[in-house]
Amino acid sequence: MSGSYRPEENPGGLDEELARLKSQVELSWPEEKRLLRSLGLTEGMTVVELGGGPGFVTEKLLELVPSGAVHVVELDPGMCLLAEARLGARARVHQGSVLDTGLPDARFDLALARFVFQHLEEPLLAAREALRLLRPGGRLVVSELDAGLWGVAEPSLPELAPIHRKAERLQLQRGGNRFIGRHLVRLLTAAGFTEVRLDVIAYHSDALGLEAFRRQLDPERLRPAMEAGLISPEELEQVRAGYRRFYDTPSASILMLGFVAHGLRSFVDLQD
Ligand SMILES: C[S@@+](CC[C@H](N)C(=O)[O-])C[C@H]1O[C@@H](n2cnc3c(N)ncnc32)[C@H](O)[C@@H]1O
Repeated sequence: MSGSYRPEENPGGLDEELARLKSQVELSWPEEKRLLRSLGLTEGMTVVELGGGPGFVTEKLLELVPSGAVHVVELDPGMCLLAEARLGARARVHQGSVLDTGLPDARFDLALARFVFQHLEEPLLAAREALRLLRPGGRLVVSELDAGLWGVAEPSLPELAPIHRKAERLQLQRGGNRFIGRHLVRLLTAAGFTEVRLDVIAYHSDALGLEAFRRQLDPERLRPAMEAGLISPEELEQVRAGYRRFYDTPSASILMLGFVAHGLRSFVDLQD
């Protein structure tokens, strides 16, 4: 079981979740790419992607390191198969946990963990494992959300608030944390990283187009939650009405925020 991550619970099952992950990457990758480059990612580097899922992000990483190498660590065997099918010989997929990867010490120039830490009961262990995998001078980059600061929509979508509260509680019960954005700096610092910083990335529909956000806002993603009795049919109907109101408003706009924490493995081993 991959912590609080349950892709099979999405309405269209795994296919729908894969489509959501893909649209999410397309939305945010241009900004993430810019940030990765500014943090020193260059074309010959060796990168490890922690919790890589089906490999959509891995493909993007491969474009950034054409003469380097990308390794993926992924717990879910089904996701590993999808990643292997997508990536072929271009990347190495290791089935295992980001808490204990079994990969050698100091092997990587950069480790990227995207939307994985929020699903872990012990993200600190994952950050420590990343420290071990990085060479001195290597960097961990953790890209996440914070449900308290997800963004703003105009017209607003108040119907989503009670649903969000339930999703937050459910993820918490399963050992995850949708408020992890605010904890990332202390997490990386506690793991032993130096030069820890937090960048906020803004995604705005005026720049990216409203269509780019459609799948992230799609109320049909909530159907399994209704079928499982977690939300009522009335609540889902209200969310559908809010979604229609939003997309029927010609001047509608949406601003979403992502949180990217990064830290350096020092040349001096701080844990000795
Ligand atoms: C929300 S998906 C994100 C996938 C990918 N990083 C992306 O940004 O599209 C989270 C992924 O982390 C994986 N995962 C969760 N816990 C893990 C663990 N302890 N070790 C390795 N992978 C894990 C899940 O199986 C899933 O593929």
